[in-house]
Amino acid sequence: MIEGKFVTLGVTGGIAAYKAADLASKLTGRGASVHVIMTRSAGEFVRPLTFEALTGNPVHAGLFDSSRLFRMPHIELATRADIIVVAPATANVLGKLAHGIADDLLTTLVLAATCPVLLCPAMNVNMYANRAVQHNIVRLKEYGFHFVDPEEGRVACGHFGRGRLAETGTIISAVEGLIGKTEDMRGLTVMVTAGGTREPIDPVRYISNRSSGKMGYALAGAASSRGARVILISAPTSLEPPPGVELVPVESARDMHEAVMNHYPGAQVVIKAAAVADYRCERVAGHKIKKEGESLTLELVRNPDILADLGRRKRAGVTLVGFAAETRDLEENARQKLAGKNLDLLVANDVTMPGAGFGSDTNIVKLFFAGGKVESLPVMDKTAVAHRILDAVLEIRRGG
Ligand code: PMT
Repeated sequence: MIEGKFVTLGVTGGIAAYKAADLASKLTGRGASVHVIMTRSAGEFVRPLTFEALTGNPVHAGLFDSSRLFRMPHIELATRADIIVVAPATANVLGKLAHGIADDLLTTLVLAATCPVLLCPAMNVNMYANRAVQHNIVRLKEYGFHFVDPEEGRVACGHFGRGRLAETGTIISAVEGLIGKTEDMRGLTVMVTAGGTREPIDPVRYISNRSSGKMGYALAGAASSRGARVILISAPTSLEPPPGVELVPVESARDMHEAVMNHYPGAQVVIKAAAVADYRCERVAGHKIKKEGESLTLELVRNPDILADLGRRKRAGVTLVGFAAETRDLEENARQKLAGKNLDLLVANDVTMPGAGFGSDTNIVKLFFAGGKVESLPVMDKTAVAHRILDAVLEIRRGG
């Protein structure tokens, strides 16, 4: 998926810099053209020669160094890149990027970049937990930087906790998720639902849930980037629809039901990432309900189960994917939804886990295939999760 892609790999000064050599080697092995930039401190941990030998390309270090490949390395390594990966990303580089500081080659070219930038932090456990570092990470996510979060385990200084650089395979999956464009979904119409439905109480109030729509929008964007025609049926969110998708805005579960059924005849793949309210108010007040008694009772009635309805009407050639948002008994509930709704694939997330479920940029999911196979994915950017789900859909459609 990344053959022929131009990957700029920034290596900063932490003990995990040695693991960047493995990353450079595996990216090169997959056909990417890898160009390494080392900060001055990274050079204290690994020699440039290691990366040059592994990638076949010269390593760049100084802002004012000349290059035999590029006339202006600080611009060309940014503008020619399909992706910039910074692994490991130290607290120092995160801080500089969060505040627009450009005082070396790496930070300068990241400012000049228009391609996706993937940051893979690695540092001491307490440093990673530090509020300043966490604020910088939040700010960088708001600016559109992508992250592969560090993993839990023993870090070099002997502490135990979150701070260890993510596994090479996890970083590569995230890279593939962000730039691994193939046209392997061309010819398919994929319907995705996203966001949390709103069930009105009166003209000013509603019942809803914590879904931001990020998971569904990531799926829609990923399917579109792989050549599919995408119909995105979305409950209200604050997100921009990904380029090229056909957006169908809806509010309530009943609106979503109607929109899904209207578009179902033309779809070959349906992915229901939306968080649909199971109940709605039996009566919606025509005017704003006044504050009168000490308590107020709302009578709720069941909404249609859209996915179960699709499962009952499933046609040959349609692949049906459901999600399960669970807070306990994940496996049991997942298997029940998979079979009960006649699905081909169920994506289960434990929404109580940090880094998973509602609102976050990452998710931690388990894939339950109708054939019995189960696959657990590590914490991953939602775009990377989306690509893995689409890979699974294609495997199922090929009979795998
Ligand atoms: O939007 P984000 O902030 O990115 O968060 C992502 C997410 C947590 C919303 C997403 O990962 C997720 O888990 N979506 C499904 C949430 C949910 O409603 O799960 P459920 O277990 O209640 O429903 C099971 C499945 O049936 C879902 O595919 C749901 O879309 C579908 N359903 C549920 C009820 C209903 N009345 N009709 C349905 O179609």
